[in-house]
Amino acid sequence: MTRPKALITGASTGIGKAYAQKLARRGYDLVLVARDRARLEALAGELRQAGAESEVLVADLTQSADVARVERKLESDAVISFFLNNAGIATVEPQLKTSVETIEKIIALNVTAATRLMLAAGRAFVAEKRGTIVNMASAVAVNPERFNGVYGGSKAFMLALSQALTRELNANGVIIQTVLPGATRTEIWERAGTDVDAIILPERIMDLDEMVDAALKGLELGERITIPSLPDAQDLADAESARLKLAPNLSRNHAAARYR
Ligand SMILES: NC(=O)c1ccc[n+]([C@@H]2O[C@H](COP(=O)([O-])OP(=O)(O)OC[C@H]3O[C@@H](n4cnc5c(N)ncnc54)[C@H](OP(=O)(O)O)[C@@H]3O)[C@@H](O)[C@H]2O)c1
Repeated sequence: MTRPKALITGASTGIGKAYAQKLARRGYDLVLVARDRARLEALAGELRQAGAESEVLVADLTQSADVARVERKLESDAVISFFLNNAGIATVEPQLKTSVETIEKIIALNVTAATRLMLAAGRAFVAEKRGTIVNMASAVAVNPERFNGVYGGSKAFMLALSQALTRELNANGVIIQTVLPGATRTEIWERAGTDVDAIILPERIMDLDEMVDAALKGLELGERITIPSLPDAQDLADAESARLKLAPNLSRNHAAARYR
């Protein structure tokens, strides 16, 4: 029997790598996408031990030609049935002094590449009448006051695009979930030029494994939008009000159809 295959952007570390490890354990083969070949190959070796085959696709997703290669992969490999749209960068630059370079990079990666790849996966999966798209947005998509607005705006864009596509994808047998994590302990903070412990209270920082488990649980439950959250009253209240605001009218995905 053919094993299902998942394509993950931003697979070399952090959230993408954690999904790759967990999906490999659930029987998936992988296509691992990021810039760092050495890290991707090391991960592919590790996943082979768990019985999963991985293809390494080195791509800088701020570059249009590289995005096109990943689009072609999504649209030509009919075995791929799971797409984790995850590669992303953040910044903690002061709002009004956000540099042009940072604005352009965030929009190129978090908006343009994420959009192109989401649509490519959508076309491929709709043609097969099955598949799962998971978009890694952020809690700041619905709580933008808490972080740099260019980053928050990029995540709000992803959430809006996902919501707009939900009805059409669901009608064609495709599941789409958007995950809105709060602060999670990964390299993104250092890459953004800060130390997470210096700007977020320790009790509000999620453990990477727990965050991804919560997101996968949301997918199993058929949630269209998942807000992995610490058991903190304010976070839960925020999450609940966001759910109510965001999810009143659209039908929920069926848990029975998960991971197609
Ligand atoms: N950690 C959090 O607190 C948090 C909270 C909410 C949402 N998120 C979102 O979750 C996603 C993953 O974040 P993370 O925390 O796992 O970050 P991370 O540890 O910094 O990992 C980011 C991943 O994206 C890849 N990437 C970065 N620039 C790229 C480029 N130009 N082309 C291709 N790949 C690129 C990186 O690989 P290479 O460097 O090898 O290219 C890496 O695999 C992001 O979209 C982020 O916005 C994170």
